[in-house]
Parts: sequence; C-alpha cells; structure tokens
Amino acid sequence: MPDSAPPSRPQDWHTRLSHAGRAGTHVHGFVNPAVHRGSTVLCPDLATRDAAGRQRFDQAMVYGLCGTPTHWPLEDMLAEIEGGTRCQIVGTGLAAITVPLLAYLGAGDHLLLPDSVYGPSRQFADHFLARMNVATTYYDPMIDAAGLTALMRPETKVLYLESPGSHTFEVQDVPALAAAARARGITVMIDNTWGIHFFQPFAHGVDVSIQALTKYVGGHSDIVLGGIVTNTEADWQKVRSAALLLGQYASPDDCWLALRGLRTMAVRLDRQMQSGLEVARWLAARPEVARVLHPALPTCPGHEFWRRDFTGACSLFGVVFQDSYSRPAVHAMTESLSLFGIGASWGGYESLILPTTGYVTRTAGSGAFGGEVVRLHIGLEAPADLIADLERGLSVLRGFGR
Ligand SMILES: Cc1ncc(COP(=O)(O)O)c(C=O)c1O
Repeated sequence: MPDSAPPSRPQDWHTRLSHAGRAGTHVHGFVNPAVHRGSTVLCPDLATRDAAGRQRFDQAMVYGLCGTPTHWPLEDMLAEIEGGTRCQIVGTGLAAITVPLLAYLGAGDHLLLPDSVYGPSRQFADHFLARMNVATTYYDPMIDAAGLTALMRPETKVLYLESPGSHTFEVQDVPALAAAARARGITVMIDNTWGIHFFQPFAHGVDVSIQALTKYVGGHSDIVLGGIVTNTEADWQKVRSAALLLGQYASPDDCWLALRGLRTMAVRLDRQMQSGLEVARWLAARPEVARVLHPALPTCPGHEFWRRDFTGACSLFGVVFQDSYSRPAVHAMTESLSLFGIGASWGGYESLILPTTGYVTRTAGSGAFGGEVVRLHIGLEAPADLIADLERGLSVLRGFGR
C-alpha cells in the first residue's frame, strides 16, 4: 500500500510506526529518507528567496536552522505518537524543557514545579529562571486540585507536570491538576518522556508536551535529542519562535537515528515493559526490598492514576530497600552487578542502575520512602539473566551487614 493512502480504520501504533513519516520520502525507491545536512539554502533569484521566506513559518526553506527534510518526518511522527499536531525538534531533552519554559515565562511570573521533577529542570528554575525574576513553588507531586489551586497566584503562568516523577515515580492526577490550571488560564506543560505513547497528554488537558528522544526513541544510547509537541497553532508558534531565537538546532544525523529508532520502538517497548514488570515483581517479593516504585504496581504512589490514564509502562522504576540496609551496603550491591551498568539516562537496549538517595534534591517534603532508593532501567536482556545478577547483588547486600 502506498504510504499516502488513507487508512480504512484507525491503525495500531505498531503499524503507524512502520508507515508514518514516510510519505514523499521514497527517493530512487529507497524506503528511508536521506540525511539532509545543510546550512545555506540556495535560491535561483531574489524573488524565489522572498517567496520561500513568506512560506508557512514552519516550512520556510531559507536556512538550515529552520529544519530539513530529515527533521520534518521525525517531527510529524512525534506529534502523531503523542496525539498532538506539531512538534519542534531541539538539541537535547533538557532543551525541550528549557525552551518552552523560556517561551511562556517572563520577569515577575510564577511557575509551579513538582518536587519530583528531573534534577536539571529544578536547577534551571533555581539558577536561571530565578535570575530572570521568575518565582518557583515546588509542590508535592501527589497534591490534589484543591491543594494546587491554593498555591496558584495571579502571576502563575505555567503548571509543570512530570508523571511519573524522576527517580521516585509518583504518578500525578494530570486531568484534575490540568483542569484546575486551565480554569485560571495557566499553561500546562508535562515531561512525558516516561509515558511516551502510553500517556496521551492532549487528551488529558496538557498544552505542551516534552520528550527526551534520547531515551526510548533513540533506543540505543547513542544520541541526545529532544522534542516539544503542541496541540494548537498558537502554542506551536510560541515554542517554534523561542526555539529558533535561542538558536536551537539538532543534527540531521541524530534526527535520522531517532527516525530509525522509532521504527522499532513499539516492539522494544513491548519487550521492555514485560521484562521490567517481571524484574519489578521479583524484587517486590524479596525480603531485602521494602517497596517497588513501579507505576504499574499498587505499591507506587499514584498507581490508581496510572491504571486510569495510561495504556502501558516503560521499563524504568525505583526500588526502596528495607531501612536496615545502609547506603554503603546498597552501593556495594550496585557495584557488584555485572549486567547493570552504573550510569545516567535510560531507554537504551541495556540495563542500568543508579542510586537515588543522597543524589536527588527535594524541598517540598515529598519523596521520603524510608530506605535507600535505587533506579533500575531494564533493557533487552533476558529477564532471567537480570534476575540472576540481582540475586547475586542481594547476597552482597546481605553480606555487607545492616
Ligand atoms: C525525565 C527526563 N526528562 C528529560 C531528560 C533530559 O534529556 P537529555 O538527557 O536528552 O537532555 C531526562 C534525562 O535523563 C529525563 O530523565
């Protein structure tokens, strides 16, 4: 079937990831788009150049910064995956956070950030937005709509959500919180990197969705890239204009790798979701473990919102050890593992582990779970091998003493 033919019924996302973003890219019969690298775009004469500049803002073909035919299919696919209409690619997942915050906030404004937010987002607010005279209030991610409303001020411009939260995985009541913000004309942003396609932000009242494409979209721990998805033309214009004026650009080679990653993402996520759950359930039954912070398990704060609002889970979750195990014991266990790399990021094909307690800042009184917490990312290895590795690690933990 040609890619441009309209589907006869709504297609499963596995099908869409195989076919979306390919229309018009069949060059000399090849399946994939080419990598277009470029800065200068030549025009045969000035009239053509003027006309190109007057083209639709998002497709002005006058300079490489405006994007290339390698960026556009990726942007189209990401917008489709999240149920939005437009996407702006930026150089990193962190830029996908800072660009919209800069687009919507100015001197004298107020921002609401969850206490569980990704660390660099917190640092950006504390050290950069503060210098612009933007005030930030950190709220407990499990706050309800009434509690959140009590924190709103006349100058509150952005409600920022991250659901589930980095490291401690609190799932937020996004529809209720977003509705409370929208009732006051406050823009709602979410870091939806964990939810990817499993959470549809625009169906739940979000205006701007942030994706670190570095994670499952790239899928191979070899790129750093971000995407910002919007639903309305007005939001799109704001985000796009801020990205261009801040000089945001992503390498076409990285965009091409992200496009390739997307083709297999649904299958990788199927496998990683199952493996993640298998490892999480095994850990939950261990006597050394106090609690597993996996949104799909009832022991995770906000699990009921995950059940209501998500259609699946990725393979990143937290583990709380019994409070009798010391930090050095947990670190010794971490270092004893052979299949789990010690490293930041997630979403690649390989498993990772990272201790959280002592490394993560919280200021709103949330996120205390008693024992030491580590974050696990489950890759594409066989779960039985990962469990065997963890079993050895737990014996190191026990042997270290309490
Ligand atoms: C939840 C979340 N958002 C955003 C980012 C930033 O992505 P990047 O590393 O591409 O800047 C990360 C990176 O770890 C993350 O975990």
